[in-house]
Order: sequence, then C-alpha cells, then structure tokens
Amino acid sequence: CGIAGYVGKNQAKPFLLSGLEKLEYRGYDSAGICIADETGLKSCKAKGRLSELVEKSKNMDLSGTTGIGHTRWATHGAPTEYNAHPHFSNDGNFAIVHNGIIENYLDLKAFLAEKGFTFASDTDTEVIPQLMQYYYNGNVFDTFLTVVSKLEGAYALGLVSTYEPNTLYATRKDSPLIAGLGKGENYIASDIPAILSETKDVYLLEQGEFAIVTADEIKIVDQDKNPIDKKIFEVNWDVSAAEKEGYDFFMMKEIMEQPKAILDTIHPRIKGNEIVLDELSLDKSYFKGLNKVHIIACGSAYHVGLVGKNIIEGIARVDTQVDLASEFRYRNPVINDGDLAIIISQSGETSDTLAALRYAKQHNAKIISIVNVRGSSIARESDDVLYTNAGPEIAVATTKAYSTQMEVLFLLGLYIAEIKGKITQEERAELVDELLSIPEKVKGQLSDIEYLETLGKKFKDVEDVFFIGRGIDYSIAMEGSLKLKEISYIHSEAYAAGELKHGTISLIEDGTLVVALATQDQLFEKMLSNIKEVKARGAYVIGVAQEGNTAIEKEADYVIYVPKTKGCFAGALEVIPLQVFAYFISLHKGLDVDKPRNLAKSVTVE
Ligand code: G6P
Repeated sequence: CGIAGYVGKNQAKPFLLSGLEKLEYRGYDSAGICIADETGLKSCKAKGRLSELVEKSKNMDLSGTTGIGHTRWATHGAPTEYNAHPHFSNDGNFAIVHNGIIENYLDLKAFLAEKGFTFASDTDTEVIPQLMQYYYNGNVFDTFLTVVSKLEGAYALGLVSTYEPNTLYATRKDSPLIAGLGKGENYIASDIPAILSETKDVYLLEQGEFAIVTADEIKIVDQDKNPIDKKIFEVNWDVSAAEKEGYDFFMMKEIMEQPKAILDTIHPRIKGNEIVLDELSLDKSYFKGLNKVHIIACGSAYHVGLVGKNIIEGIARVDTQVDLASEFRYRNPVINDGDLAIIISQSGETSDTLAALRYAKQHNAKIISIVNVRGSSIARESDDVLYTNAGPEIAVATTKAYSTQMEVLFLLGLYIAEIKGKITQEERAELVDELLSIPEKVKGQLSDIEYLETLGKKFKDVEDVFFIGRGIDYSIAMEGSLKLKEISYIHSEAYAAGELKHGTISLIEDGTLVVALATQDQLFEKMLSNIKEVKARGAYVIGVAQEGNTAIEKEADYVIYVPKTKGCFAGALEVIPLQVFAYFISLHKGLDVDKPRNLAKSVTVE
C-alpha cells in the first residue's frame, strides 16, 4: 500500500492525488483521500485504480491545506470502497491511513465494540481512529502516543484530526515512512517517488519515531517526546526517473534502461581490472575464512540468488544455500557464527526479507544486502550494503533491478573467489573484462526487438508455457516464467530440463509452448535432447542459445540468439529477451503491463 500526506499553504488535494499516482505500484485495488479543516473531515474513496478516485473527486469539495491519502493492496477485508483508507472515528474527528497489519486488531475491536463503537469496514486499520476517539484527552499527539502503544504488528501511519487541522502526525514500525521537507509545505509518504517532484530532502523515519508535521517544520520525537536530531537524507534520483518519458509503460522504459543501470552498477566497482568493494566493512580476512553463504530473498530477487549460488559455489567454491525469505525462518536453518547472509531486495522493505535478515543477524551471521533503495530498512539493518544503481523502478514486474542485482552477485562472487585463491589474477582479469562488456551487449540486444514482438503477438493466446533449462539456464527459466505469468496471466512453469521426464512431460501435448534455454556450452547437447523429447510430444519450441550454436535451429521452431559470453554470465544476457517477450505478450493482450492484477511492487506484509 502507499501513503501520501501534505500540510502547507497550498491546497492538499492536487499533491495527494499526484503523490498517490506515483505510489500506485504499491497497491491499486482502492484508494482514498481525506482533507482536514476546522469544519470537519472531507473525504473521497473509490474502489479500483487511482483514476477512479481522480474522476470521482473532481466535482467534490475537498478544499483544505492538510490531508492524507492512501492507495491500497488489500490484506484484511476485500477491495471495496468501504474498506478503502482513510478510516475514521465514529465522531468524525480522526482519520487514519495505514500500511501494514495490526495483529491484535480483533482484541482491540472487541474492546471498542463493548464501549459502543460501530465499524464501517472489515479492516484491521479502523480500530486506530476509533481508539483515537476513545482515548482523546484534549491533546491529539498525547492520544496518538497512547493509541500507538496499544498496537501490535507492523504499521506506517498518517493521522489528521479536526482538533488540529494544520498538523499531520505520523509514525512507523516495520513498514517504511518518510517525511519530505518543502518550503512552507511538508510531506509524508511511504516511498520516495511520491514526493520526488516536490523535494529531494527527506527524513527517513526509524522504528518507533514520530513525526509532527506542520507547514513550517517537521519535528521528529521518540515515544517519550524526546526530540531526535535527524539528518536530512538527500535523494539522488532524478524526477524524470519516475516519469514514463514517452514509453507506453514503465516496464519497457526500465527494460531499455538496463545497459545504463548495469554500467552504473559495475563501473564504480572496477578499477583497472580489479574489483574494489570499498563499501564493505568486512575485510578480506573475513572472506578468506568464509565457509557458508545464505542468500535470502523473495520473488525475482530469489531467482537472482539462484544465479548467485552458481557463481559463489561454482567459482568461489563456498557452500551456498538459497532461501525464500518467507521460508527461511521456519525451517530452523543451520546458521553458524560468522556465516554470510546475502539479502537481496529492490525496495529494501519487503517484510519477509527484512524478518529473515533479522533472524540471520540474531544467529550471528554477517549481513551484506544488495538493495536498490538507499536508506531503506534492509539497507539500514545490514552490516554492509552493496547498492544496485538502477534508479527508481516503478513497474511491478522487475527488470533493471533484477539485472543489476545479478551484476552485484557477479562482482561479489569473483571478489570472494580471488580472495580465496580459487581464481588467479589473470582469470579474474579475464572475467572482469567480460563483465564490463555486458552493458554493450545488452544494448545490442535491445536495439532490435521486432522479432520478439512478432513472437509475443504469435503466442499471446497460449494457455500454458513451460520454460526449461539446466544450471544457470534453469535459474533464468524461473525468472522468465515468473515475468510471463505475472504480467500476462498465462499459466507458466519453469522446469529443470532433466526433470521433465519425471512428471511434467505428461503435460506436453500438441501445441504446448516450451521455451528451451540452452546457453551453457557443456549442457547444450543435453538440452537438444530435451527439446527433441518435447517436440516428439507435439510441443512448439522457442529455443534460446548463444550466437553461433546454430545446431539448435534443427530442433527448435523458433530461435532467439543471445550474444556470446562466458558461461557464468550468460544469464545476464538471456533474461533480456525473456523480459521483452513477456512484455509484448502482455501488451498485445491489452493488459496493464505495469500494474498486473492482485500484485504490488513492494510487499510490506508477511
Ligand atoms: C514483489 C515484486 C517482485 C519482487 C519481490 C521482492 O513481489 O513484484 O518484482 O521481486 O516483490 O521485492 P524486493 O523489493 O524485496 O526485491
């Protein structure tokens, strides 16, 4: 979900709507805004996309200079207008927007019901404004402190009230929130893009901090009202980075930005042909003695982790386990003192990933995170951060963040390999040269995508797709499959090609589409056999191979070539046409490529 809030000398509504629009990738099943002034709270809510709210609020009186807004990704309660935020107290004096989950809401709701409060929604959030009314003692902030002390779970909150219509209150625990500093106007938001067109100076609220926001100042205090001397964090993203700039969808813009994003990520870390990771406080002796790595992430970031395992285990020869963050804590993993946990997250705010980080830390692992959003929770809680320099990523389906995460793993893997003496300086130099050639190669791939559009159009109506591959190709198959299913709603699965014969092959029939990934030289022949197996059962095959491996043309119906590179880097190039293919299928199905149904970009609930 996304939160935006404004207090200043101008009307609040235009900022709230534009801020929410920038946050729509965080959730888009309903939205609402509320403006506070002396006369009361004025609000508008709508089910569906933000455009519904914009339309509905057009002719309503929502004048006023203090307000909060929210775009929702439903957890408790269906995506309806009455479940949309803001939520109100029965007496209409308090309105709240909330991201996260209040775990003890049923107890709080029962308590309030006993006192005669009635509820207009099925949400966990609604208990908060009701508690504000119940505990109100003539001082809004004191009451807010009391109410927040009763809440269990995760929350980022924005509060307005008729009692102090020129002040906005906010706090957070386990859900991100920032406060933006303007001139004669100030903002709150759950994420930077919301305020990027207004200011680049922000306070990043830490756990348990409260912001008291008026037009002239932002005071940050702790729960005992002690002032906190916050440093201003200056955002280094461009406003244009959060705009579509002529592209139909952010996803295509972000696909096209990959050569630059990859270059920006690797270039500062390569001096001559040496890998220099100045950001690391962990020294070389730590890596020399390193015995075990845990890579932990969700979604596409997890798929990157699988590629990382191939590098860190395959080249640096360190035992590497890859875990889904939502599973890691619950399987009682063996973590030894000093193990390395690599936490991968674009947003740096994914709840499961953050919880896994904390778990690994409690078990004395060292934490290196690979994060895109500077100053995010995961970045702040790690021992060291290797940032991906991808710039803001808006499309729900990740592309450039995924690619840059992979590059960071290449760098880290080679770095550890050399320290451990598993590769010589010459071998490292050769691999670094190859790494440096990736941006140009990706650029070449993206300069001609017509063929991929043709394939996308041709296959847009298929019902099932199987992505198969071995080794790194299998890891990329998982990402290609996820990309396709999330934005096209076509059922798709990734399979280790060698496993087909143990079950999945029974699903192959006339016309089933199989995308066969075969970029690993040592596995190429084996993949050709797997292609033959599915062809014999009637499948249509799109083969993906390195340039020059033309033998695939005899077996596959269509072939996508990727530029030649060293085997371990092939994934970086192979994923590109799969992203573009998924994009065109979604586009030609007429779907909203950037905002696929039921999904949100940043998942801050467990
Ligand atoms: C969501 C996004 C995915 C992303 C995953 C993890 O599901 O749609 O693209 O891979 O979350 O997000 P993170 O911000 O931790 O990388």
